[in-house]
Amino acid sequence: MQFFSSLKSIRNSAVLVSALLVFISSQKAFASVQFHQDTNVFRLDGGDITYVFGINDQGQVQTIYWGKHLPAAQQFTAAQPAAAVASFDAPVNTTPQEYTGWGGALYVEPDLKVTFPDGNRDLVLKYVSNKVDENEIDLLMKDISREVYVTLQYQVDPKSGILRRSANIENRTKQPFTIEQAAAGTWNLPRGTDYRLHYVTGRWAGEWNLQQQPIHGGKTVLESRRGTTGAQNNPWFMIDHASTNDQDQGDVWFGALAWSGSWEISIEQNAVQDLRVTGGPNSFDFAYYLKNGEHFQTPNFYGGYSDHGVGGASRLLHRFEIDTILPHAPTPKLRPVLYNSWEATTFNVDEAGQMALAEKAATLGVERFVMDDGWFGQRKTDHAGLGDWYVNPQKFPHGLKPLIDKVHSLKMDFGIWVEPEMVNPDSDLYRKHPDWVLNFTGRPRTEGRNQLVLNLARPDVHDYVLQWLDKLLTENEISFIKWDYNRNWAEPGWPAVPVEQQKNVYVDFTRNYYDILAQLRKKHPNVEFESCSGGGGRVDLGVMALTDEVWTSDNTDAYDRLLLQDGFTYAYTPGVMMAWVTDSPTWVNQRTLSLEYRFLSSMQGSLGIGANLNHWTPEDFATATKMVANYKSIRETVQRGSLYRLMSPREGEQSVTESVSQDGKQAVTFAFLHSSTQNYPFPRINLRGLDENATYTLNPLTGKVSSDTPASASGAYWMHRGIDVELRGDFQAMAFTLTRQ
Ligand code: GLA
Repeated sequence: MQFFSSLKSIRNSAVLVSALLVFISSQKAFASVQFHQDTNVFRLDGGDITYVFGINDQGQVQTIYWGKHLPAAQQFTAAQPAAAVASFDAPVNTTPQEYTGWGGALYVEPDLKVTFPDGNRDLVLKYVSNKVDENEIDLLMKDISREVYVTLQYQVDPKSGILRRSANIENRTKQPFTIEQAAAGTWNLPRGTDYRLHYVTGRWAGEWNLQQQPIHGGKTVLESRRGTTGAQNNPWFMIDHASTNDQDQGDVWFGALAWSGSWEISIEQNAVQDLRVTGGPNSFDFAYYLKNGEHFQTPNFYGGYSDHGVGGASRLLHRFEIDTILPHAPTPKLRPVLYNSWEATTFNVDEAGQMALAEKAATLGVERFVMDDGWFGQRKTDHAGLGDWYVNPQKFPHGLKPLIDKVHSLKMDFGIWVEPEMVNPDSDLYRKHPDWVLNFTGRPRTEGRNQLVLNLARPDVHDYVLQWLDKLLTENEISFIKWDYNRNWAEPGWPAVPVEQQKNVYVDFTRNYYDILAQLRKKHPNVEFESCSGGGGRVDLGVMALTDEVWTSDNTDAYDRLLLQDGFTYAYTPGVMMAWVTDSPTWVNQRTLSLEYRFLSSMQGSLGIGANLNHWTPEDFATATKMVANYKSIRETVQRGSLYRLMSPREGEQSVTESVSQDGKQAVTFAFLHSSTQNYPFPRINLRGLDENATYTLNPLTGKVSSDTPASASGAYWMHRGIDVELRGDFQAMAFTLTRQ
């Protein structure tokens, strides 16, 4: 993930300035990194952001500024530690620091906590030296007496100004020690009294609920203790000022942690109302045994700032994900329209049934056919088969080849479902290797969906999983893997290694998961991957770097989806958000929705179809064929464009989003009416993000606009005068495009 080519590295020069100019999409992208030795101040600039920190006279690395870009000539005075407030609050708690060891009189959240073999647990880190390189700074810190070194790593993205932070912890003592907490770093925001936190909560089939709450003194912890990312919180946050902000205006600081194991982000307002945000692997039950001579690299914690409200902040984050995080960035491939068999056939897959569905899907314009769960081992229900990754000979007597050939002959590519980290006790694998699962010796093994979690931290399990997946991809023409993960951890023991190393499981499991994905991608570069965990339970910037898309939720009710998709897109680009059109009434809540409504809801992300096509009427096929063609005409705008939230599904009876393509030539608007009351018409829609002076032609994709709407008008007209749409009744929807002339 290099942002740009290298400049010469310079160490501790008097006044160092390294800067580089890059042009991206005709926009000027600029990053510079400076070290002023006279004041011991470091400054990073990128996009519209300036980030400044300094070394104070205590040797602490102190945050000075993070926010809107400041003039290049702006000088900063040396960092000064906070004065003591009282004997109860030593300055170490009120000085905004980039990285603290737990030691001395520290009570706020530490970044690093260590226990040494002699019982000492005091760790006080001080600045040693720096290395400034192109758009990066490495800052070396060391404990006041022991040979524990920490390199704070900073990298600024020239286009968005988003910073990547991480820490590398090195044991140069003569003995091993145990890391009990290791954050990537702490983000500090200036003293304030009206901060508001945005985050998401969720559960299976109810992910991505956006929450907002005022920040007061004390600590809020967003976390997962589940072994993986989880749906209950997501490792992402935004903080703005409650009194002055809206969708498009006001200061917003945001961050996202690239870690798919148990994680923790704490948001803490200290005794003097400074705000600190610390993030890394979850410190609960955490330990990493670091032998002498070894390093521990924390995950990356990304942070950014926008003065264009939460809408501007999420647009910046989307662009950053597309430009730097996703596989093939900055030009990740557009998502094909896919068909998935799960809701149609569940576990009852077989050659004839899948071929019949594939034939029907192909007539709609579907580009990828995905066979879901049920094709392997003795998998007839969710009680058996996970772990035995051979093709079931009763369901597919001639292997997968006839089905794959059929799918190819229909001009679609072929994808398949797997759940590599899991095993059913009723499987050959478990009968042979009962010791391969997470467990504590002699204790119960708690099942979830009748399955146990394989301990991927074990080298033999890692090798087994890599080997069968590699074989599956080598022997079959498979273009897409849906990688599922349908439960969270229990009894996270690893009895096979010495006691002091058993908690390494939290880190080693996740590292091995990444390693398998990375190795498969390298060996099979044309295969795409989806991250799924019973829905949206494993979505974060760590897995996003290795997977092309994510399954948003098992909840496929098209109305519920509006809310889920709204929450999802605060953190993640709509381009990776898989959304299937499924049958109505839905299994979720028995709601009945028109096929057109279901399509429009799914077309806000990456379109898929998951309905049982055997039950569709000729009219359904006609509607779906038209909608798939419509989607293809707007797909690039939806997947790569800038998203504006015009009316929130959380706030009223309407929901409206608009996406503007990167080249500004097309804007697509989706409007949904949940329920009209008292004969009120739909509120006027004022568009955003258009060129005031350009002329745009209107083209309704489905539904009607009011009869006084001009066929074409200026961007200023569509934004300021707006457009009226004819939506009345319950669960109505329409969409239109504007094309720049
Ligand atoms: C999970 C996934 C579904 C489907 C089933 C198969 O629930 O989220 O999409 O793949 O598993 O068992």
